[in-house]
Amino acid sequence: MRYTGNKVIEEDIQGDATLIESEEVGNGKKLYIESYGCQMNFADSEIVASILIDEGYTTTANYKEADVILVNTCSIRDNAEKRVLNRLRNYQIVKKLRPGAIIGMLGCMAERLKSQLIEKDKLVDLVVGPDAYRSLPSLLKSAEGGQKSVNVLLSREETYADISPVRLDNNGISAFISIMRGCDNMCSFCVVPFTRGRERSRDPESIIHEARELLLKGYKEITLLGQNVDSYKWNITAKGEIIEPGEEVVNFSGLLEKVALLSPELRIRFSTSHPKDMTDEVLTTMAKYENICKYIHLPVQSGNNEILQKMNRGYTREWYFDRIDKIRQLMPDCAISTDIIIGFCDETDEHYNETFKLMDEVKFDFAYMFKYSERPKTLAERNFSDNVPEDVKSKRLQQIIDLQSSHSLRSYKQMVGKVCTVLIEGESKRSSDQLYGRNTQNMVAIFDKDELKKGQYVDVLIESCTSATLFGKVIKTDKN
Ligand code: SAH
Ligand code: SF4
Ligand code: F3S
Repeated sequence: MRYTGNKVIEEDIQGDATLIESEEVGNGKKLYIESYGCQMNFADSEIVASILIDEGYTTTANYKEADVILVNTCSIRDNAEKRVLNRLRNYQIVKKLRPGAIIGMLGCMAERLKSQLIEKDKLVDLVVGPDAYRSLPSLLKSAEGGQKSVNVLLSREETYADISPVRLDNNGISAFISIMRGCDNMCSFCVVPFTRGRERSRDPESIIHEARELLLKGYKEITLLGQNVDSYKWNITAKGEIIEPGEEVVNFSGLLEKVALLSPELRIRFSTSHPKDMTDEVLTTMAKYENICKYIHLPVQSGNNEILQKMNRGYTREWYFDRIDKIRQLMPDCAISTDIIIGFCDETDEHYNETFKLMDEVKFDFAYMFKYSERPKTLAERNFSDNVPEDVKSKRLQQIIDLQSSHSLRSYKQMVGKVCTVLIEGESKRSSDQLYGRNTQNMVAIFDKDELKKGQYVDVLIESCTSATLFGKVIKTDKN
């Protein structure tokens, strides 16, 4: 995930902290929200802000002056939780300076730890899980009255479809739209099904409406979000029950097409695809529309079939290769990234070598790589032992990071000499005379500013690169 507005404090991917802030004028109490974790959590913070602004709160970028501090948390790995706990300890200073201030925990850690943080650790006044944000105004009222409040009820229906998110940290060009919530996959290492509950899809009408509104406000890129976008399905439940009789059934490919047709000027991205569910139909739709970006994040996790089975991923190495072949056959220029976990339970050198070999064969354009971190209550925690020694995990991780760096450099080098269409997102961090944006493959390109503005599409001749950035010169601009 990339946040590009000037309010970004720290930037990182999945499981690291990015502070999102926005200042509003108003007479109400001041709210400060900080978010950790995946893009869905950031999108949720925008829903939370919307709910509370409707109640008369205003947002602030400075936690020291906030009446309410909300930390939207992630449980995906142990270190993600540790970071949040440290942060909450820091916030106790605010409590000392301003005893009336309220500190609340939202998101996946709230769901996982429930009232523990209030009762045992005494770090927060408020604990609210991902499906309970509509109850925030009343819970805040109770908390202001001195009552510690908890709502961690998960829902089978809640999609916040009717809430128009307040775009917090934002460049005014790209925005997230959640299209579904929860996950039914039960990958054995993963805490998400426990923290986010059952999978449910959001009404396509409300998604199209939100996309149209963004378009009217001048946005040029939207990212459709879900833990497994390929299983998006309106309006049939997993059990085959029809939710709203008479309404059209829409799958992910259908949704993509509807959004793509809104305007050729609007770019569409999505995340995350699951190899077991990614259909040829989705790939054909991607290939058909130029404004659907040619970039797929397809987490493989492991290259070994025994480990994949233990992970409960629902596909084999061979199936994964078949998906890669199909992507490349239909869209030869499509970038592919992945997630890898090394050191999962009982992973031997042989198992690991198959992951290494898979990476070497596919040559991903980008990869997020993690050491396995055992999570409470997951199938892996209950059934297997986290038995790969830490030093072995570290060694394996370093090897695949080095391998991936060479692959990333290779794919960036392949762009040199070519012309890419880039959507300008803002000023380059390195120089105010330069701008940056991304090409369809999600690669960052930097070029001279001249008279150009963010939101414009430009054709850039790529002249050089590093393993993470393309440098070039603009040879053609759109008319805006
Ligand atoms: N829904 C997405 C992934 C969400 S979590 C999918 O299915 O691909 C993002 C990534 O975190 C996962 O792809 C996985 O690589 C990593 N991850 C999840 N649980 C983990 C754990 N217990 N230890 C280490 N990495 C983990
Ligand atoms: Fe977790 Fe698997 Fe669901 Fe992704 S698909 S969120 S890894 S359970
Ligand atoms: Fe983290 Fe929850 Fe997302 S565990 S990765 S914030 S769904």
